[in-house]
Amino acid sequence: MKERIDGLRAAFNEALAKATDAAALEALRVEFLGKKGHIAELMKGLRDVEDKKTAGQLINTLKNEVELAIANAETALKEAEIAAQVRSAKKYNPTLTFGRETGSYHPITLATREVVEIFETMGFTVENYDEIVDDYKCFEALNIPKHHPARDMQDTYYLENGQLLKTHTSAAQNAIMKKYGAPLRAIFPGRCFRNESTDACHENTFFQMEGMMIDENISISNLIYFMKTMLSEVFKRDVKVRLRPGFFPFVEPGFELDINCEICGGDGCPSCKNSGWLELCPCGMIHPNVLEEGGIDTEKYTGFAFGLGLTRLAMMRYGVKDIRDFNSGSLKSLSQFKSR
Ligand code: PHE
Repeated sequence: MKERIDGLRAAFNEALAKATDAAALEALRVEFLGKKGHIAELMKGLRDVEDKKTAGQLINTLKNEVELAIANAETALKEAEIAAQVRSAKKYNPTLTFGRETGSYHPITLATREVVEIFETMGFTVENYDEIVDDYKCFEALNIPKHHPARDMQDTYYLENGQLLKTHTSAAQNAIMKKYGAPLRAIFPGRCFRNESTDACHENTFFQMEGMMIDENISISNLIYFMKTMLSEVFKRDVKVRLRPGFFPFVEPGFELDINCEICGGDGCPSCKNSGWLELCPCGMIHPNVLEEGGIDTEKYTGFAFGLGLTRLAMMRYGVKDIRDFNSGSLKSLSQFKSR
């Protein structure tokens, strides 16, 4: 068997060297890889061989070599053709294409679209909101008065006119409440900024998606239901989550929803600060002060809000270990995700 394979390899190499056009390459492909080609014959011959495993591997190696050599030869031929056209072209010809590469979406865009679709099917409207806001929207309307210690966690970049780059998507809560009134179901993804030192899981620029649902009789169980449904849709399976108490002046009670780290499977790694859990979605029942500030009747309505970390979700969804890769501009790492 080995001699036969070696013989065929030699014959192939000889024929390949002589094949100088597409038709010859195609003929060679059919001769070796076709339904009744040499490789198929060899496979049939396996029946009578004792050491099927070794022989099978040898045949496979030959098959791979042949496929690769033909593909390479085809590429070389096409390139030569284009080069010849270019050489003979007298004028600039805009219809000539040189292996034009198609772009791909950023993984955060892909993750955002996925989550947005899920919430749309659950009746949420999608809102777009400013990146530059004022102190009132980012803090005061959210029950965070001036000098409140909660501001320490959200230092940001201030503009000379007193406006600032929003630190969280919650900055749109007030405007959206005023725009729609109750009842209300809305999500608003957006870019957020914080003046922070960066590490594997912190960035000064990141994406969140805020969600709000305000209606009669909304409770924590509604909140948990929506979170779990969204996560199991995104990860296509039941995801382990845990709920811890969390403090945010604009919710009461407030929670941190953590998800089992998908990168290390919960054993602990730099992406999850060795805890096995990743804070993914702070949430809670909207504080009555915030509802009132948004013009909502707190006697009649209650609501929940959440601030999903879209960047972190994209890390988990695509197994990206270092958050800084997202803003790196490195096409090598960023263009490998499916584009849809
Ligand atoms: N805006 C908060 C943050 O970025 C998260 C949050 C949103 C918490 C909604 C509760 C409710 O830290």
